[in-house]
Amino acid sequence: MTVHIGAKPGEIAETVLMPGDPYRAKWAAETFLEGAELVNEVRGMLGFTGTWKGNRVTIQGSGMGMPSLSIYANELIRDYDAKTLIRIGSCGGMQPQVGIRDVIIAMTASTITSPSSGIFKEVNYAPTADWSLLRAAVAASEGKGCTTHVGGIYSSDVFYAERPDLDEQMVRHGILGVEMEAAELYTLAARHGRRALAVLTVSDHLQTGEALPSEDREKTFGDMVEIALEAAFA
Ligand code: HPA
Repeated sequence: MTVHIGAKPGEIAETVLMPGDPYRAKWAAETFLEGAELVNEVRGMLGFTGTWKGNRVTIQGSGMGMPSLSIYANELIRDYDAKTLIRIGSCGGMQPQVGIRDVIIAMTASTITSPSSGIFKEVNYAPTADWSLLRAAVAASEGKGCTTHVGGIYSSDVFYAERPDLDEQMVRHGILGVEMEAAELYTLAARHGRRALAVLTVSDHLQTGEALPSEDREKTFGDMVEIALEAAFA
Protein backbone atom coordinates (compact mmCIF):
# COMPACT_ATOMS: atom_id res chain seq x y z
CA MET A 1 0.00 0.00 0.00
CA THR A 2 1.13 3.52 -0.73
CA VAL A 3 -0.40 6.87 0.17
CA HIS A 4 -2.65 6.84 -2.91
CA ILE A 5 -2.72 3.20 -4.07
CA GLY A 6 -4.24 0.48 -1.92
CA ALA A 7 -2.89 -2.51 -3.88
CA LYS A 8 -0.91 -5.10 -1.92
CA PRO A 9 2.67 -5.88 -2.98
CA GLY A 10 2.56 -7.99 -6.15
CA GLU A 11 -0.94 -6.87 -7.14
CA ILE A 12 0.34 -4.34 -9.71
CA ALA A 13 1.71 -5.70 -13.00
CA GLU A 14 4.97 -4.58 -14.60
CA THR A 15 2.91 -3.14 -17.46
CA VAL A 16 0.47 -0.37 -16.57
CA LEU A 17 -2.00 1.41 -18.85
CA MET A 18 -3.03 4.81 -17.52
CA PRO A 19 -6.26 6.46 -18.69
CA GLY A 20 -7.12 9.77 -17.04
CA ASP A 21 -10.63 8.64 -16.16
CA PRO A 22 -10.96 5.88 -13.52
CA TYR A 23 -14.23 4.69 -15.10
CA ARG A 24 -12.36 4.21 -18.37
CA ALA A 25 -9.91 2.03 -16.45
CA LYS A 26 -12.84 -0.08 -15.27
CA TRP A 27 -14.36 -0.34 -18.74
CA ALA A 28 -11.01 -1.23 -20.36
CA ALA A 29 -10.21 -3.87 -17.73
CA GLU A 30 -13.65 -5.48 -18.04
CA THR A 31 -13.56 -5.35 -21.84
CA PHE A 32 -9.98 -6.36 -22.66
CA LEU A 33 -8.50 -8.22 -19.68
CA GLU A 34 -9.14 -11.72 -18.44
CA GLY A 35 -9.68 -12.20 -14.72
CA ALA A 36 -9.58 -8.45 -14.02
CA GLU A 37 -9.62 -7.70 -10.32
CA LEU A 38 -10.01 -4.36 -8.58
CA VAL A 39 -6.67 -3.56 -6.90
CA ASN A 40 -7.17 0.09 -6.02
CA GLU A 41 -10.09 2.30 -5.13
CA VAL A 42 -8.42 4.91 -2.92
CA ARG A 43 -10.09 8.27 -3.71
CA GLY A 44 -12.11 6.48 -6.39
CA MET A 45 -9.04 6.31 -8.65
CA LEU A 46 -9.80 2.78 -9.78
CA GLY A 47 -7.09 0.30 -10.77
CA PHE A 48 -7.50 -3.27 -12.04
CA THR A 49 -5.07 -6.10 -12.71
CA GLY A 50 -5.75 -8.99 -15.09
CA THR A 51 -4.15 -10.65 -18.09
CA TRP A 52 -4.11 -9.95 -21.81
CA LYS A 53 -3.00 -12.89 -24.01
CA GLY A 54 -1.43 -14.40 -20.90
CA ASN A 55 0.48 -11.24 -19.96
CA ARG A 56 -0.23 -9.48 -16.65
CA VAL A 57 -1.49 -5.93 -17.05
CA THR A 58 -2.71 -3.24 -14.65
CA ILE A 59 -5.03 -0.48 -15.82
CA GLN A 60 -4.84 2.39 -13.33
CA GLY A 61 -6.55 5.79 -13.60
CA SER A 62 -4.16 8.75 -13.45
CA GLY A 63 -6.60 11.61 -12.93
CA MET A 64 -6.35 14.79 -14.97
CA GLY A 65 -3.24 16.94 -15.21
CA MET A 66 0.43 16.38 -14.47
CA PRO A 67 0.29 16.79 -10.67
CA SER A 68 -2.27 13.98 -10.42
CA LEU A 69 -0.52 11.70 -12.90
CA SER A 70 2.79 12.35 -11.12
CA ILE A 71 1.43 10.94 -7.85
CA TYR A 72 0.28 7.69 -9.43
CA ALA A 73 3.27 7.24 -11.76
CA ASN A 74 5.74 7.89 -8.92
CA GLU A 75 4.08 5.33 -6.65
CA LEU A 76 3.68 2.77 -9.45
CA ILE A 77 7.38 3.06 -10.27
CA ARG A 78 8.94 3.43 -6.82
CA ASP A 79 6.72 1.17 -4.75
CA TYR A 80 5.34 -1.36 -7.25
CA ASP A 81 8.27 -1.43 -9.69
CA ALA A 82 6.15 -0.77 -12.81
CA LYS A 83 8.42 -1.06 -15.84
CA THR A 84 6.20 0.01 -18.75
CA LEU A 85 3.69 2.86 -18.38
CA ILE A 86 1.43 3.83 -21.26
CA ARG A 87 -0.96 6.75 -21.08
CA ILE A 88 -4.14 6.31 -23.10
CA GLY A 89 -6.20 9.45 -23.43
CA SER A 90 -7.63 12.22 -25.50
CA CYS A 91 -6.11 15.40 -26.89
CA GLY A 92 -7.09 18.52 -28.79
CA GLY A 93 -5.89 18.57 -32.42
CA MET A 94 -3.61 21.49 -33.36
CA GLN A 95 -2.75 20.94 -37.03
CA PRO A 96 -4.97 21.00 -40.12
CA GLN A 97 -3.92 17.47 -41.15
CA VAL A 98 -4.94 16.10 -37.73
CA GLY A 99 -8.61 15.08 -37.73
CA ILE A 100 -11.12 14.07 -35.07
CA ARG A 101 -10.74 10.33 -34.19
CA ASP A 102 -7.15 10.24 -35.49
CA VAL A 103 -4.52 8.65 -33.30
CA ILE A 104 -1.50 10.67 -32.15
CA ILE A 105 1.51 8.80 -30.84
CA ALA A 106 3.60 11.30 -28.92
CA MET A 107 7.31 11.22 -29.69
CA THR A 108 7.95 14.23 -27.44
CA ALA A 109 5.87 16.26 -25.00
CA SER A 110 6.65 19.97 -24.62
CA THR A 111 5.57 21.83 -21.53
CA ILE A 112 5.93 25.19 -19.79
CA THR A 113 6.04 23.64 -16.36
CA SER A 114 5.51 20.24 -14.83
CA PRO A 115 5.91 18.79 -11.33
CA SER A 116 9.45 17.87 -12.43
CA SER A 117 10.48 21.07 -14.16
CA GLY A 118 11.98 22.62 -10.99
CA ILE A 119 14.89 20.19 -11.02
CA PHE A 120 16.02 21.20 -14.50
CA LYS A 121 16.64 24.87 -13.60
CA GLU A 122 17.71 26.67 -16.80
CA VAL A 123 17.60 23.54 -18.98
CA ASN A 124 14.62 23.06 -21.28
CA TYR A 125 14.53 19.28 -20.93
CA ALA A 126 12.86 17.41 -23.82
CA PRO A 127 10.57 14.65 -22.48
CA THR A 128 10.73 11.79 -24.99
CA ALA A 129 8.82 8.54 -25.53
CA ASP A 130 10.46 5.13 -25.34
CA TRP A 131 11.51 4.22 -28.86
CA SER A 132 10.62 0.51 -28.71
CA LEU A 133 7.09 1.31 -27.49
CA LEU A 134 6.68 4.14 -29.99
CA ARG A 135 7.70 1.97 -32.93
CA ALA A 136 5.44 -0.90 -31.87
CA ALA A 137 2.48 1.42 -31.23
CA VAL A 138 2.79 3.01 -34.67
CA ALA A 139 2.76 -0.46 -36.26
CA ALA A 140 -0.25 -1.51 -34.15
CA SER A 141 -2.18 1.67 -34.89
CA GLU A 142 -1.53 1.51 -38.63
CA GLY A 143 -2.33 -2.22 -38.55
CA LYS A 144 -5.78 -1.39 -37.14
CA GLY A 145 -6.36 1.09 -39.95
CA CYS A 146 -6.29 4.13 -37.66
CA THR A 147 -5.13 7.40 -39.22
CA THR A 148 -1.92 7.77 -37.24
CA HIS A 149 0.27 10.82 -36.60
CA VAL A 150 3.64 10.62 -34.87
CA GLY A 151 5.37 13.70 -33.49
CA GLY A 152 5.43 16.29 -30.74
CA ILE A 153 2.54 17.14 -28.46
CA TYR A 154 2.06 19.87 -25.86
CA SER A 155 1.27 18.98 -22.24
CA SER A 156 -0.61 21.97 -20.88
CA ASP A 157 -1.30 22.81 -17.25
CA VAL A 158 -4.73 24.18 -18.03
CA PHE A 159 -7.73 22.98 -19.99
CA TYR A 160 -9.27 26.45 -20.05
CA ALA A 161 -6.28 28.26 -21.50
CA GLU A 162 -6.07 32.05 -21.35
CA ARG A 163 -2.94 32.35 -23.50
CA PRO A 164 -3.87 31.88 -27.17
CA ASP A 165 -0.34 33.03 -28.08
CA LEU A 166 1.09 29.82 -26.55
CA ASP A 167 -1.17 27.63 -28.66
CA GLU A 168 -0.15 29.72 -31.66
CA GLN A 169 3.56 29.04 -31.05
CA MET A 170 2.88 25.33 -30.60
CA VAL A 171 0.96 25.24 -33.89
CA ARG A 172 3.76 27.17 -35.64
CA HIS A 173 6.28 24.62 -34.40
CA GLY A 174 4.40 21.59 -35.69
CA ILE A 175 2.94 20.37 -32.40
CA LEU A 176 0.18 17.88 -33.26
CA GLY A 177 -2.09 18.12 -30.23
CA VAL A 178 -2.58 19.30 -26.66
CA GLU A 179 -3.28 17.23 -23.55
CA MET A 180 -2.30 17.52 -19.89
CA GLU A 181 -0.19 14.54 -18.69
CA ALA A 182 2.43 13.07 -21.04
CA ALA A 183 5.41 15.37 -20.31
CA GLU A 184 5.51 14.38 -16.63
CA LEU A 185 5.06 10.68 -17.44
CA TYR A 186 7.97 10.74 -19.91
CA THR A 187 10.18 12.64 -17.45
CA LEU A 188 9.52 10.25 -14.57
CA ALA A 189 10.06 7.20 -16.76
CA ALA A 190 13.39 8.59 -17.98
CA ARG A 191 14.50 9.40 -14.42
CA HIS A 192 13.79 5.87 -13.22
CA GLY A 193 14.87 3.99 -16.35
CA ARG A 194 11.36 2.84 -17.30
CA ARG A 195 9.52 2.75 -20.64
CA ALA A 196 6.73 5.26 -21.29
CA LEU A 197 4.46 6.26 -24.14
CA ALA A 198 1.30 8.29 -24.71
CA VAL A 199 -1.27 7.06 -27.23
CA LEU A 200 -3.95 9.70 -27.80
CA THR A 201 -7.15 10.11 -29.77
CA VAL A 202 -8.12 13.50 -31.07
CA SER A 203 -11.35 14.32 -29.24
CA ASP A 204 -11.65 17.98 -30.26
CA HIS A 205 -9.90 20.41 -32.57
CA LEU A 206 -8.62 23.80 -31.49
CA GLN A 207 -8.92 25.43 -34.92
CA THR A 208 -12.11 23.90 -36.30
CA GLY A 209 -13.97 23.63 -32.97
CA GLU A 210 -15.09 20.13 -34.02
CA ALA A 211 -15.58 17.55 -31.23
CA LEU A 212 -15.85 13.77 -31.15
CA PRO A 213 -19.49 12.70 -30.85
CA SER A 214 -20.08 10.87 -27.55
CA GLU A 215 -21.17 7.68 -29.36
CA ASP A 216 -17.71 7.42 -30.96
CA ARG A 217 -15.78 7.78 -27.71
CA GLU A 218 -15.99 4.14 -26.67
CA LYS A 219 -14.74 2.85 -30.03
CA THR A 220 -11.78 5.24 -30.21
CA PHE A 221 -10.91 4.51 -26.58
CA GLY A 222 -11.02 0.76 -27.27
CA ASP A 223 -8.65 1.22 -30.22
CA MET A 224 -6.16 2.97 -27.93
CA VAL A 225 -6.33 0.18 -25.35
CA GLU A 226 -5.55 -2.40 -28.03
CA ILE A 227 -2.73 -0.29 -29.51
CA ALA A 228 -1.18 0.13 -26.05
CA LEU A 229 -1.46 -3.60 -25.24
CA GLU A 230 0.02 -4.64 -28.58
CA ALA A 231 2.88 -2.16 -28.16
CA ALA A 232 3.63 -3.24 -24.59
CA PHE A 233 4.01 -6.90 -25.54
CA ALA A 234 5.39 -6.57 -29.10
N1 HPA B 1 -6.75 20.88 -24.04
C1 HPA B 1 -6.15 20.21 -23.07
N2 HPA B 1 -6.34 18.91 -22.89
C2 HPA B 1 -7.18 18.28 -23.72
C3 HPA B 1 -7.85 18.94 -24.74
C4 HPA B 1 -7.61 20.31 -24.91
O1 HPA B 1 -8.16 20.96 -25.81
N3 HPA B 1 -8.64 18.04 -25.37
C5 HPA B 1 -8.45 16.85 -24.75
N4 HPA B 1 -7.57 16.99 -23.75
